[in-house]
Amino acid sequence: MGDDKNTLAALHNDVEVAEPKRGRFLSKAQTVILGVGLALLALCAPPKEPVGTVKWGDCEDEDSLPGSQCGYIIVPKDYFNSSAGTTKIALGKLPAKGDSSKGTIFFNPGGPGGAGKPFVIKRGELLQTYVGHDYDLVGFDPRGIGETRPATRCFDDLFTFVDFKRNTILERSYDFPTNASIEDIRKEVLIQQREADSLLKTIFDLCEVNMGDELKYMGTATVVRDLDFMAKALDGPDALINLYGGSYGSILGQYLVNILPDRIGRVVIDGIADAVAWAGKYFLSLDGGYQFLQPPSFQAGPEGCELAHSVGEDPSEIKARVESFVNNLYYQPISVPNALHPGVLTSGRAKVFIQLALLRPSTWPTSASQIAAAMKGDGSHILDALEPKMYLDLERSAVTCNDNPTFAPPTAEDVVDELLYVYQNVSRFAFAVVTTEPDAGCEYWPVTPPERFEGPWNHTLSNTILVLSNTEDPVTPLDSALQVQDLLGDSARLLVQDGPGHVTLALPSFCTQSHVQAFFSNGTLPPKDTICKPDITPFPEIGVQSTWSAEQRRVAQAMAGLHDAMLDVRGVFKLRV
Ligand SMILES: *[C@@H]1O[C@H](CO)[C@@H](O)[C@H](O)[C@H]1NC(C)=O
Ligand SMILES: *[C@@H]1O[C@H](CO)[C@@H](O)[C@H](O)[C@H]1NC(C)=O
Ligand SMILES: *[C@@H]1O[C@H](CO)[C@@H](O)[C@H](O)[C@H]1NC(C)=O
Ligand SMILES: *[C@@H]1O[C@H](CO)[C@@H](O)[C@H](O)[C@H]1NC(C)=O
Ligand SMILES: *[C@@H]1O[C@H](CO)[C@@H](O)[C@H](O)[C@H]1NC(C)=O
Repeated sequence: MGDDKNTLAALHNDVEVAEPKRGRFLSKAQTVILGVGLALLALCAPPKEPVGTVKWGDCEDEDSLPGSQCGYIIVPKDYFNSSAGTTKIALGKLPAKGDSSKGTIFFNPGGPGGAGKPFVIKRGELLQTYVGHDYDLVGFDPRGIGETRPATRCFDDLFTFVDFKRNTILERSYDFPTNASIEDIRKEVLIQQREADSLLKTIFDLCEVNMGDELKYMGTATVVRDLDFMAKALDGPDALINLYGGSYGSILGQYLVNILPDRIGRVVIDGIADAVAWAGKYFLSLDGGYQFLQPPSFQAGPEGCELAHSVGEDPSEIKARVESFVNNLYYQPISVPNALHPGVLTSGRAKVFIQLALLRPSTWPTSASQIAAAMKGDGSHILDALEPKMYLDLERSAVTCNDNPTFAPPTAEDVVDELLYVYQNVSRFAFAVVTTEPDAGCEYWPVTPPERFEGPWNHTLSNTILVLSNTEDPVTPLDSALQVQDLLGDSARLLVQDGPGHVTLALPSFCTQSHVQAFFSNGTLPPKDTICKPDITPFPEIGVQSTWSAEQRRVAQAMAGLHDAMLDVRGVFKLRV
């Protein structure tokens, strides 16, 4: 995504109605008639554009790519109730290179809450390098998000929401001593959970007051209907749907292929979240390890990894030092007067920082330095890294809560017991993930969507889809990808990348990339049980980049840039492209 100013501008502005250009489905004469008609209408009332209207024009963002186009499509607001009227989905396109296009690949950058339009018009060339340039790449702002209308606006403005969360449990995360007994931790976090519950209730009450029924059209099933509608409008009535999506985009992909199994063209999903749990339960199963301190960090030694004391140091020693530091922060938080927002480094914030770093191995050398600085008393780098990069409203909840089944509010004790179970038996970052993946509080969600999908998830598809997963993904574990493979059988082909991080772009692999490109360009699937390895390690000292060709360098840089941009959708780390 672009810089703060542009992102904010994009969030605030309505879609500008560009001068109607000659679209695919309008003849020149029709365009003239439409133009005259629009001009006349504009004199009396704003033109009411019929469902199916597609408009493209130049992009107005100054950092949009040459050749990119911006526009929108008018769709039914509610596919099951025509009286609900119409709404507008914002689109951004990077056309195929050369004379002809094989059609459209829709792109979803994850989140949920990620806007696809600005992504494609600003970072589309990275996507093109990755998936190939035979197709038009189209990013859309999903329901409730970005310039698509209505936007989610539970708070009057986005700064109010950031102020509302600042220094509350929702921002600073859970504080507890990691060396205490589970019973003692339980007492400690229960109090914090009660604070979280009442904050969430306040937020969702505001959503009800400020958005009301408009909130109910933002669920994933509605976005699937939009994809179907958009594919027909852009590529013709018989066109199949092509999609590339990572992280939450894998949820959208699993909904898509199971809601519309006969409409599936080429679909690639990466970093697989568990759609069965997503649609059926209100707690996601978490998995993933403590990958931060893997051996390469130690081979690198103190020069490559500032947490190491010597080359080849025993990893468990470094790990013990970091754990003890984080534990001590519970007893003695570090004051940080020199951060962008002066504050304190607490154990909760430190855990959130480490959990986020696990998603992006490319940041490990920097993250290690930032932790090392904090261990020497300067917590400003950690607090600054945690500063929101982009201000969002409740876009994410608008998706997850519409997808959730309705359920009676669990007690704070229920929530804490569930989290403790995950903490002890699945992931030591269970409590940090509540903060970094803010999906809680749906019991207070005020509306019911027109359509909710709960499976079955085992359809036979018109075309086999490609499913990508890392072996060590801290938020979307390999198990979820194996589940998709089991459920879809021959309709899914799994490619495993043997490495850490969130989605396979986390550490670029030419092997993975060539399979993705072959799949999009001619439908070729990787052989069964294909395992690709990353071509780069987190610590550059032992990487192999010096042997790469210029083309390999270009492709690897595109993948790294794509990963950065996709994870920045979460609004946390700085863009390094
Ligand atoms: C359909 O939409 C109209 C207009 O928003 C609304 O009044 C009506 O209750 C809706 N019908 C159903 C069945 O949701
Ligand atoms: C936990 O760690 C703190 C800080 O290092 C220490 O003071 C305390 O004694 C430890 N408690 C237990 C039960 O080990
Ligand atoms: C972890 O799992 C074990 C075995 O199922 C269970 O006895 C224990 O209570 C779990 N831990 C927590 C905190 O729930
Ligand atoms: C698909 O899943 C449904 C519901 O879980 C189940 O009833 C059905 O038998 C499954 N179909 C196949 C072909 O496995
Ligand atoms: C499919 O595309 C890939 C990459 O573009 C190419 O290497 C492969 O030969 C193609 N396969 C077929 C059957 O055309």
